[in-house]
Amino acid sequence: MLRAVIAASLITTLTAYTLRPLRPPPKPSYETSTVLITGPSLNGIGHAFAQSFSSLRVSKIILLGRSLSKLEAARSSLPHPNIEIIQCDFSSPPSLTSSLSKIKSTNTRIDYLICNAGISQRSTFLSTPLSTFYEIFQVNLFSHVALIHGLSSLMGLDDRDNKSHIVYVSSVQSVIALPERSGYSASKAAVSGLCDSLRAEFSDFCNVIEVRPGYVSTSLSLNALTSSGKYNKTDSTTLNGIPPRKVAERVIEGIEKGESVIDVGWDWKSRVAVWLKFWGGGVLRGIMERRFRKSQREKKGLND
Ligand SMILES: NC(=O)c1ccc[n+]([C@@H]2O[C@H](COP(=O)([O-])OP(=O)(O)OC[C@H]3O[C@@H](n4cnc5c(N)ncnc54)[C@H](OP(=O)(O)O)[C@@H]3O)[C@@H](O)[C@H]2O)c1
Repeated sequence: MLRAVIAASLITTLTAYTLRPLRPPPKPSYETSTVLITGPSLNGIGHAFAQSFSSLRVSKIILLGRSLSKLEAARSSLPHPNIEIIQCDFSSPPSLTSSLSKIKSTNTRIDYLICNAGISQRSTFLSTPLSTFYEIFQVNLFSHVALIHGLSSLMGLDDRDNKSHIVYVSSVQSVIALPERSGYSASKAAVSGLCDSLRAEFSDFCNVIEVRPGYVSTSLSLNALTSSGKYNKTDSTTLNGIPPRKVAERVIEGIEKGESVIDVGWDWKSRVAVWLKFWGGGVLRGIMERRFRKSQREKKGLND
């Protein structure tokens, strides 16, 4: 027990030391900045980012999403005079290419790229068609890789000019993989790796921030993919999650402090699970196996 407590204290101290900003960043000049946000649908985390950046009076906001009517609704809801909307289905590479050309043709410098659009999953590995895995990875990872690549010159990454920011919304599930989320958890773990690598490569000219929210009260579970379509249910965990604005507010605070990994909305179960993953031997594995068996029993009960 004593050894576990000492190990936990050491880890906490080391983590705090490792995640500290290497040097305090200069205060961002929001008024001259342009922000591009993916997946800004009403009541989601992307929309909360748009609200926060509106309040900070950034110069321009570009919203990128798959539904024109949702983009229009987001724009009308925001108190900002300069919002451009661009339609883009991230699951379709041609749609992404055409949206990238539109953004590039504006020749606007992008100071903050908020990689937020994402899609979740509620299905066992074996019942999930391969096409669903591809779609999840395309939306959660590859589309944003293409965006960062395609916008590199507008973000000053090519000429290492000035300081831009990439805020990538990952998840606590990049660390703790739940059953029936194999594609989702794998895609978010890949996001983590991408952010770590980019952070090292871009260290002097772009701040790469990985945001790992716990449960947030949005439509994520409603829109999650199953083995045969959409889940169409709001899980109680999602319903009882923190409001999306808390994520946006915490991230703005993190940007100003120069943080690189931001954990927000982790309940005690998430904290214990993360601790168990690294220090709990096989305990977390046993919990996940029981969770899966229970969910399978409940589904069988419903189908009987
Ligand atoms: N809510 C949580 O508990 C939670 C926890 C950890 C991480 N996250 C992450 O937070 C991010 C935002 O999710 P959210 O919780 O705010 O859920 P959300 O309201 O469902 O937002 C997801 C956004 O992604 C967009 N999107 C999905 N598929 C797309 C596609 N093919 N092309 C373009 N846009 C697409 C959605 O558009 P439509 O409205 O058209 O579907 C929506 O705007 C996601 O990356 C998610 O993984 C959420």
